[in-house]
Amino acid sequence: MNEISKAKIHFTEEQIIEIQEKENAKRILDIGGGGEGIISQVYGDKVVAIDISKNELNEAPKNDSLKLIMDARQLKFLDEQFDTVTSFFTFMYINNKDLKKVFKEVKRVLKPGGKFLIWGLIIPEKKKEDKDIFATRLNVKFKNISIETGYGILWEDNDQDIDRVIDLALQNELEIIEQKQEDQYFYLEIKK
Ligand SMILES: C[S@@+](CC[C@H](N)C(=O)[O-])C[C@H]1O[C@@H](n2cnc3c(N)ncnc32)[C@H](O)[C@@H]1O
Repeated sequence: MNEISKAKIHFTEEQIIEIQEKENAKRILDIGGGGEGIISQVYGDKVVAIDISKNELNEAPKNDSLKLIMDARQLKFLDEQFDTVTSFFTFMYINNKDLKKVFKEVKRVLKPGGKFLIWGLIIPEKKKEDKDIFATRLNVKFKNISIETGYGILWEDNDQDIDRVIDLALQNELEIIEQKQEDQYFYLEIKK
């Protein structure tokens, strides 16, 4: 990376994320499951990982999860197919209007009592003097593994926070069962 592009990126401090494996997660749909494919790395063959980008799925580590090219705004599954749906730093790539569609679809494919687990980046409102790209560095820990990764997006009119996601859940008559806000990311557990 040259000096000019470096200067345009705002990096958050490294965020440490520990993923506790849930014993009761049976069949998991991971939306935006390309890239590092963290959820597939944690849960293996329990996971159906969908991503709109074939490249991102191809780049994800090879493992036992089932990978499909699919748009989270228009899921191809029948109703009530999954016990758990996850979104690991995917919401930052989906605009707020489309997130409404994603929530509706996730609710549709979740079984009654099923859970939606969301890890999301907190993106502040962009000011004129801010840099072009908002990026985060993550240290993700699960089992005995520790992965250093990072995600970045063009910083424009795409601020995001936990309250906005809670609002979407409530608008869809979903129940918030756990919420946690750290320095630069949030975690939400939502129940149908
Ligand atoms: C950088 S990844 C997030 C990190 C990834 N979950 C991981 O574990 O590394 C975000 C992904 O969301 C995908 N994405 C964006 N919009 C989507 C949509 N509407 N439906 C499905 N995937 C989408 C992108 O292609 C990208 O691969």
